[in-house]
Formats: sequence, structure tokens, C-alpha cells
Amino acid sequence: MKILITGSNGQLGRELINQLESINQSIKQKKYDILSTTRDDLDISNQTNVENFILHNKPDVVINCASYTKVDECENHIDIAYKINALGVRNIAIASEKVNASIVHISTDYVFNGLSKYPYREDDKTESISVYGKSKLMGEKFVEQFSHKYFILRTAWLYGDGNNFVKTMIKFSKENKEVNVVDDQFGSPTSTVDLAKVIINIMETENYGVYHATCEGECSWYDFAKKIFELKNIDIKVNPIKSKDFKSKAQRPQYSVLDNFMLKLIGLNSFRKWEESIEEYLKEYDISRR
Ligand SMILES: NC(=O)c1ccc[n+]([C@@H]2O[C@H](COP(=O)([O-])OP(=O)(O)OC[C@H]3O[C@@H](n4cnc5c(N)ncnc54)[C@H](OP(=O)(O)O)[C@@H]3O)[C@@H](O)[C@H]2O)c1
Repeated sequence: MKILITGSNGQLGRELINQLESINQSIKQKKYDILSTTRDDLDISNQTNVENFILHNKPDVVINCASYTKVDECENHIDIAYKINALGVRNIAIASEKVNASIVHISTDYVFNGLSKYPYREDDKTESISVYGKSKLMGEKFVEQFSHKYFILRTAWLYGDGNNFVKTMIKFSKENKEVNVVDDQFGSPTSTVDLAKVIINIMETENYGVYHATCEGECSWYDFAKKIFELKNIDIKVNPIKSKDFKSKAQRPQYSVLDNFMLKLIGLNSFRKWEESIEEYLKEYDISRR
């Protein structure tokens, strides 16, 4: 099975490559022929290059991990956000359709406005409140419009091999005795290890559609920070603050917990509780690596 991974140098791309390669090694076969591409190899916003690359290589599956993920920067760079998160995704969807490849596209909890009182299901109304979320939502729509073999996986609060909240907290604690963290935004911290596993399991099925794909349980950023410091035995004072007192360019949903409803229905919800996944990450991963 030939698999094209875009944005392969990002957190999720790296984890997918690890897991696919270790499956190949464990069965001593090249079950997965992995074509990994970074932004330098394949800029998804370049329509001609995407078309030529996909038509030439004819993958069976395209996993799109490429995205402009800097939520605050997106507010100032609207054109870039839409070029990558919307048009880039359209380029992939159109080209993939021409070679009959299925697509796994990664989206976000930020497609919701965060006003819900219960975890969002896949068919709940989307309405984004940030440029990032809006551009990602348009990307989802293009996938639905141009591909007929797609999996859209909405994930959230992702951490893995790259820059993320966990690393930011640990780095910050090295030079500070206290930290302010918002306690009125709720979500589900999600490990790339758990997400990559679900992607690999679902991509070989014909269970096409939209899925929520996050670790189980929910917490605030404040709870998450406390847990990270507790697990790392870091002595730092964590002050709960409100979103309105934390200056950031983009507005974020207050409550963006996702219910992995559709994954549960098809029996592929292998996500662990967020506390379990973060514990493993902090034990096994060298935070200073990147
Ligand atoms: N991180 C989160 O908390 C989070 C939450 C919800 C959903 N998601 C979604 O999950 C997916 C994976 O996220 P992640 O955390 O792995 O992201 P990431 O670490 O930021 O990786 C994204 C990758 O995309 C690459 N990229 C950017 N523009 C590109 C372009 N035009 N063409 C090709 N590659 C390009 C980046 O390369 P450069 O480094 O060179 O720019 C980077 O390697 C994304 O779709 C994201 O929207 C993430």
C-alpha cells in the first residue's frame, strides 16, 4: 500500500512515519510504501506541483498532515491560512480523486464555536470563531466536495514530537517560579501516538466520513498544566486565570470537547484517557529533543 504523507516533518507526520515503519519492521515486509514529503518537497498550496506529484506517484492513500497551525498568526496572515488550510487541501482532494486515492485529512476542534454544554458530535453545527478554524472548516468542505473516499478526523490539543503546550510549560518552568494558565477553556489533550494508531486502523477500511478523534476525558488548560508539572515533579505555582485576562490574537472556543461518537460506533475508538497518554509521553519522550 503506497501512502503519501504531506507535512511529514510536523508532530503527527513524524509519529505516523514511526508507526508505519515499525509495522513494516515487525512483519519483516514492506507492507507500507511510505512517501513522506515536507513543505520543501511538496508545498500543498502549489496546485501544479500537488497535481504532478500525485499523478506521478499514484498513492493509494494520502494522509494530509500539512497545515498552517499557528492559531494566533493566522489572524494576521489570513491569505496564508486559507491558501494552506483550505486551497492546499482542495489541491490534494482533486488530485487524489484523479488517481482514486483515499484521503485522510486532519481537522480541528476549532471548527466549533465552543458554546456547547456537552461534547460535540460529528453532526453538530460547525461555526468557527477564528481564522484558523474557518480556514480548516473550508478545507473540510473541499474534501467533502472533491473526494468520494475520505476520512476527516477532527482532533484537538495535540502533542508529540514538535512544539506543543507540554513543551512550552516545561521550558517555561525552567526559568520561572510561577505561571498563569487559563482555566475557562476546556478540551481533550491528545497524543499523536493515539491519533496515528487510529489513522492507520481506519485508513484501510471503507468507513469513510467525518470523525472526532481525541483522547478520552476533558480538562482545562490549567488542569493540563498542573498534571504535566505533577508528573514531572516540577515545583512551580500555577495560577488559574480567565481567557479575557490572557492576551492572544485569536479567540478560542471555551468548550471544544469532542465525542468520538462515530469511532465508537465502528469499533475503532482506541483512544486512551488523556491522563494515561500524557503520562506515557512524559516518561518516554525527551522533551529537549526539538
Ligand atoms: N497541534 C494541535 O494542537 C492541533 C490541534 C487540532 C488539530 N490539529 C491538526 O492536526 C494536524 C497535524 O498537526 P501538527 O500538530 O502535527 O502540526 P505541525 O506540527 O505544525 O505540522 C504541520 C506541518 O505542516 C507543514 N506545512 C505547513 N505549510 C505547508 C505547506 N504549504 N505545504 C506542506 N507542508 C506544510 C509544516 O511545515 P513547516 O514547519 O515547514 O511550516 C509542518 O511540518 C494539522 O492538520 C492541524 O491542523 C492540530
